[in-house]
Amino acid sequence: MTTLTDAVVLVTGANGGLGSEFVRQALDRGAAKVYATARTPRTWDDRRVVPLALDVTDAASIAAAVEQAADTSVLINNAGVGLFASSLLETSVEDYRRLLETNTIGLFAVTKAFAPALRRSRGAIVDVASVASWLTRPTLAAYGSTKAAVWSLTDSLRRELRGEVHVLGLYLAFTDTPMTAGIDAPKGDPADVVRAAYDGLDSGAYEVLADEYTRTVRSRISEVLAPH
Ligand SMILES: NC(=O)c1ccc[n+]([C@@H]2O[C@H](COP(=O)([O-])OP(=O)(O)OC[C@H]3O[C@@H](n4cnc5c(N)ncnc54)[C@H](OP(=O)(O)O)[C@@H]3O)[C@@H](O)[C@H]2O)c1
Repeated sequence: MTTLTDAVVLVTGANGGLGSEFVRQALDRGAAKVYATARTPRTWDDRRVVPLALDVTDAASIAAAVEQAADTSVLINNAGVGLFASSLLETSVEDYRRLLETNTIGLFAVTKAFAPALRRSRGAIVDVASVASWLTRPTLAAYGSTKAAVWSLTDSLRRELRGEVHVLGLYLAFTDTPMTAGIDAPKGDPADVVRAAYDGLDSGAYEVLADEYTRTVRSRISEVLAPH
């Protein structure tokens, strides 16, 4: 069980739709300090927020952030890029590499760099994955495979850090943020997703399935995926 009260929280991609909600709700729950990290940090109207530059694809940027935020006790791996392609095979290798660099390798590199601090504080990690971790839709396949890797990394990290750092995977369907601005589909509220994630930390959950669609997909994961 990880409470946000008096925690030192670091959010990657803090300027985004879910990221800014992770910052706001951490403050609401009594965090002592929130590192709101972004490629281009912005100002915040709460003195507990420390804006910090962090590009998750840049090793020097990660090293500098670890030095400045060595007291981090809760890491929110939220930064990510989306891609809605016409199909998997129509996706360029360059676009696929960009997805992997940010969503998967970036998350791994940030986690590895902050692991000593998180171990010291006996803290927690929230990895923002996706219902697309478990889907094979052509439009989401490239993106989804990077989130499938996040699912796997999250489960392996949980095992490796057992007894030291709590590791929670967050899974969600379409949510109303800049990432989905061009998509005409029902979308969840970022505030509800973040509330579910922080409630999950409070209760010691390993996985948070933020909406009904995600819960349905998760419950059918053992089915063999025949083409249709
Ligand atoms: N919205 C959805 O429907 C949905 C569903 C499932 C999962 N997710 C996941 O939720 C997370 C948050 O996404 P969102 O929906 O809130 O989208 P968003 O509003 O586009 O936010 C994504 C944030 O990630 C940041 N980012 C991108 N590349 C980065 C890099 N190299 N280093 C640091 N930050 C970087 C962006 O920063 P800049 O401002 O600098 O571009 C942006 O602020 C992502 O991991 C996404 O994959 C979203």
